[in-house]
Amino acid sequence: MKGRTKITVIGAGNVGASTAQRLIERGDCDIVLLDIVEGLPQGKALDIQESANILDFNSKITGTNNYADTADSDLVIITSGLARKPGMSRDDLLIANQKIVGDVTRQAVKYSPHAIIIVATNPVDAMVYLALHESGFPRSRVLGLSGVLDGSRFATFIAEELKVALQDISPCVMGEHGKSMVIVPRLTTVKGVPLTQLLPAEKIKQLAERAVNGGAEIVALLKTGSAFYAPSAAIAQMAESIIMDKQRIMYCSAGVDGEYGLHKVSLGMPVKLGKNGIEKVMAYELTADEKTALANSAKAVQELIGVLKI
Ligand code: LAC
Repeated sequence: MKGRTKITVIGAGNVGASTAQRLIERGDCDIVLLDIVEGLPQGKALDIQESANILDFNSKITGTNNYADTADSDLVIITSGLARKPGMSRDDLLIANQKIVGDVTRQAVKYSPHAIIIVATNPVDAMVYLALHESGFPRSRVLGLSGVLDGSRFATFIAEELKVALQDISPCVMGEHGKSMVIVPRLTTVKGVPLTQLLPAEKIKQLAERAVNGGAEIVALLKTGSAFYAPSAAIAQMAESIIMDKQRIMYCSAGVDGEYGLHKVSLGMPVKLGKNGIEKVMAYELTADEKTALANSAKAVQELIGVLKI
């Protein structure tokens, strides 16, 4: 009989450690937190483990610097790499993080050849493409953090504007996790009603722009480091849909193979997440303008992928 779900979180910085914390508090699983810095994953893992008696969870977490301890993970979450400093775009991290994500992916898949990989490192769409390439995994088993987070940011601003409950908002955000992000107001609904019927176009544009710059807004406020509470919540929700085979439809960065007329790119898509990873890429009917925006977004990511030379 197979044991509990084993999840490896690579990178014990803010995003990695909070993801581990959120996952362990959600239910029975074994988590391995790995980092190259000696003591960091061990210390954070022990600290999280020592909350179990208080919070009444039964999961185990261990910290390590050794990939052998990650063997046979069902899920590998890659958070390692540099984060932005104020004024930087996610794309400025491309070359430095290529080396890190390439190396981490190769090591992780050596020990967990059947895992599903979630990538959070930026620029995430290019990093998902890289992880697909380095792992040799089918595209169903590699995905990235994007629209769940961007959509949650957009929903925050909509709720504030309309003075409605956050839970009643269902945001639709596709495309790049970056400047060419494709926020689709027509498919963003408030209790089933399209946002386009509830707010004037100019107001929607303002809120969408704030969501596109949502990560940078936090970076500018923090001055050191980038967002991690909302990112880790998004990763945990994606992970949960996979581990618990929930079949939820979520906006994630995924390898694209003909969907929406796009090829050779990884991009934010509506995908169904279950025990096999991406079980389906949903085919929405988009308007001509929405299709153009998505094609432009794909082009922007393809430019970054071109720089990777893979
Ligand atoms: C952000 C990072 C995760 O958007 O890209 O905060």
